[in-house]
Amino acid sequence: MYIYEGLKNYTENIKYRFHMPGHGGISDSHVLHELSQILKYDVTETPLTDNLYNPEGFIKISEERITKGYESRASVISAGGATLCINTALALAAGEGKKIIVDRRCHKSVFNSMVLLDLKPVYIYPKYTENPAVNYIDCAELDNILYENEDAACVIVTNPTYYGIMNNVKVLSEVCRKHNKLFIVDNAHGSHLIKWENAKLHPLKQGAHFCIDSLHKTLPALTGGALLHSAVCDSADIKKAMSLFGSTSPSYLISLSVDLCCRFIESELEERLIEKTDALDKVKEFIEKNSDISVICGGRQEESYNFAKDPLRLTLDFYNSGVSAFNMAQILLKEGISVEMPDDRYMVLIVSPLINQNNIMSFAKTLIKNLRNNNQSFFEYNDIQKLRFKAALSPRMAAFAPKRKISFTESEGLVSGEDITPYPPGIPIITKGEIITSELIELYKDRIKTIEVI
Ligand SMILES: Cc1ncc(COP(=O)(O)O)c(C=O)c1O
Repeated sequence: MYIYEGLKNYTENIKYRFHMPGHGGISDSHVLHELSQILKYDVTETPLTDNLYNPEGFIKISEERITKGYESRASVISAGGATLCINTALALAAGEGKKIIVDRRCHKSVFNSMVLLDLKPVYIYPKYTENPAVNYIDCAELDNILYENEDAACVIVTNPTYYGIMNNVKVLSEVCRKHNKLFIVDNAHGSHLIKWENAKLHPLKQGAHFCIDSLHKTLPALTGGALLHSAVCDSADIKKAMSLFGSTSPSYLISLSVDLCCRFIESELEERLIEKTDALDKVKEFIEKNSDISVICGGRQEESYNFAKDPLRLTLDFYNSGVSAFNMAQILLKEGISVEMPDDRYMVLIVSPLINQNNIMSFAKTLIKNLRNNNQSFFEYNDIQKLRFKAALSPRMAAFAPKRKISFTESEGLVSGEDITPYPPGIPIITKGEIITSELIELYKDRIKTIEVI
């Protein structure tokens, strides 16, 4: 009996609930009516409903099935998103107060985790191609950084990026193994890759010691549903670390959705990925034939030694079209189309494996119909790529230090008290504890008015 059957059994056999949550499985209210289908499965830990952090019943059986499916040492459910998995993986791989090697393109959850665990980062910056959204971690550079930082506990990288670009994780893992370092891959945006061409792009299959799948981002799971896979830790140790950071009442609905999502992965995902990729191939051809927008990710793409691209992520570059992606997203909203992220230059679309193929083409046709070249000028990325900062304080010391807000243009030489994560390009440009430079001020003075300093 897995989570779904366990909860169904419970709802069928228990007539009166005198336990949390306070709705008692009852939606007999005008206000709650919309939730009538799901409230019954929203339960709490009882002798019949198992316990996510100490599973002995149907949750254990579901997780064993998931672990078997992924062929990992342990794959555990997170009802606290990828964020909870990142905290857990860093706690296990590094512990407290250690030096770690961090992909500078990491999500802010990694930066927050460094505050919680008092980690001391050494950053590895991406290598850029001609198109700034296509960037990757260079394997030789990681090798050098690890020679210079023998005391680092582990390495963490983002893969794929928000724009759908993947590192050569196989070689990066080999480099980590050569230096005897644990390797964590934040695969938050790549959970679906487990069923793409024999998982050749899924980090777990390319040698990562820890891999984080934020199922809810690209697959049919409720928001907050994620998996942490480990090739080196047992489930019990992962649970112990996870419970340090997670709520003591992890959502049963989210766990249930992860259970069902994993069955969807097993039985249907592969076929649906092929269908959607076929559709994206056609959409790519259509957009590029009818406009100056380039499709930098989406559909089948050539792979290179340094990076690969996610077939399911649709990333459009408006640079040569003279149109702002941001303005176009506003127009699309009026046409009933909501995209994941527009900035002035790029538009990112998350394509659900469940979407009707025709709707992907409808998006493309609506886009082309509404294109009007307005000679849009774009933010220049080349200078951002050269920005580097010296750290005066560790992330934790900076997070807890007293701060004041001042004018951005008067902050040169002071220590930043905040992370600034502008879009574009969606990665922290400066993080708390680093010294503000004149180059940063020059680049961002029109966009940033004030900054917290320490
Ligand atoms: C790369 C990356 N990692 C981690 C996270 C955190 O994911 P979650 O919202 O599932 O906690 C995000 C969220 O957007 C992300 O983009």
